[in-house]
Amino acid sequence: MSRYKDTPLIFELATCHEGSRYIRPLDVPKPDFAEWFGDAYREGKPNIPDVDEVSVVRHFTNLSAKNYHVEVGTYPLGSCTMKYNPKVNEDMAALTGFAATHPMQPDETVQGNLEMLYHLEKLLNDVTGMTAHTFQPAAGAHGEFAGILLIKAYHEDRGDMKRDTIIVPDAAHGTNPATAAMAGYKVREVKSNEYGTVDLESLEAALGDDVAGLMLTNPNTLGLYDGNIEKITSMIHECGGLCYYDGANMNAIMMHARPGDMGFDCVHWNVHKTLSTPHGGGGPGAGPVGCNKLLEPYLPRPIVAKKDDMYYLDYDRPKSFGMIRSFVGTFGVLVRTYAYMLTNGAEGLYEVSEGAVANSTYLRERLKDYYHIPYDTPSMHEFVMTSEWQKKESGCNTLDIVKRLIDYGFHPPTVYFPLVVSEAIMIEPTETETWRDLDALADAFIKIAEEAKEDPELLKGAPRYTPIARPDETAAARDPILAG
Ligand SMILES: Cc1ncc(COP(=O)(O)O)c(C=O)c1O
Repeated sequence: MSRYKDTPLIFELATCHEGSRYIRPLDVPKPDFAEWFGDAYREGKPNIPDVDEVSVVRHFTNLSAKNYHVEVGTYPLGSCTMKYNPKVNEDMAALTGFAATHPMQPDETVQGNLEMLYHLEKLLNDVTGMTAHTFQPAAGAHGEFAGILLIKAYHEDRGDMKRDTIIVPDAAHGTNPATAAMAGYKVREVKSNEYGTVDLESLEAALGDDVAGLMLTNPNTLGLYDGNIEKITSMIHECGGLCYYDGANMNAIMMHARPGDMGFDCVHWNVHKTLSTPHGGGGPGAGPVGCNKLLEPYLPRPIVAKKDDMYYLDYDRPKSFGMIRSFVGTFGVLVRTYAYMLTNGAEGLYEVSEGAVANSTYLRERLKDYYHIPYDTPSMHEFVMTSEWQKKESGCNTLDIVKRLIDYGFHPPTVYFPLVVSEAIMIEPTETETWRDLDALADAFIKIAEEAKEDPELLKGAPRYTPIARPDETAAARDPILAG
């Protein structure tokens, strides 16, 4: 409980607010800063709190201890994949040659960095079945946007201007239709069938010569692998569209199946989900986008290229749709990605996906007699259950159940998503959880199912041991009070 104790603001700990008293007076002539910096030069001292070292350390340690993170315990957020990030990745990213270089250095002074990116691209190509990657996008959704711009550039380059629609399944993550709309497309939704995968009749009805492409994740956001995937991608190709693979669920299939072999033309990675980089470690994150030969000419510039044993940034790409971010993207995150891929190797990545599916399936099996599972179809790295039984019996809904989970020391899973399932509880344990952790999570869920029968008020008043219990989550997201 102590980690929830009140922490004052660092400004309240300060003895004065005029910068550090440890900075000595100048003993060299003062340069004419005003001349150098003009209006941007400030005469007064900065308003920063002056706090002794031990108080600063305690302050930030106490703040960090209030947070729930994957190094505290299981964090089973379906679709958002919170796996443990091995520390060796951090060690590699901190190597001076990587950490202390600048993107504007001449190529010949950063040959090692460019070589690393060059090799990373080959690894990502191998795992996805694509022929090239851009590293520019800063996150998965940004990668989606880049991928759809590739598809757009392809159609425009061919003068095929009538294609103004992207097909998206109803189980899709919200970023898919949002991406399509941001790229200027209309969105046409296709329905899921009784197995939770794409309904082929609904897809057939959505096809036409106005279709620019399809956005799909497989396994989908219900954790279900679509066995019709090759049929689906060829239906899109036959009507002249291209297929975009949302790679958020790559953790389920690495080295087992490749989007390229399923018929996809481009794909994004959420490296923070699959390849164990922290969410935005060292700045925004990375969402590399891979594509096949058809789309390669349109990739954002620059790309990392090699000529006569020299690596360089190639800006000379006349058909590129432009830049979507500066230089090659978030370099430090890409070092961590590379470190993870090399430490695992091909076999290790195969086992990562196997472990992710095994852990999720184990939890589903342990919970299936206590919670309603809406689809019989075997699930992969994540699964969806619901509070339907509890709601009928005692009026406890999904929110009550997962809020009670906090009292047992776990972060709640993703809830009320995907939208095709009412009262959804979406669980993704990942391969990094031990059997002990999985059992502890399953035991807590089972106990909560019993509590829902015996003492529903316990759930309705949960969580009981946190500073706040049930904030208005929309207001908290839209209008956060960050100042204390
Ligand atoms: C299926 C799916 N697609 C796309 C995204 C967007 O990825 P990011 O959060 O990296 O922008 C997510 C994020 O959770 C997702 O689950």
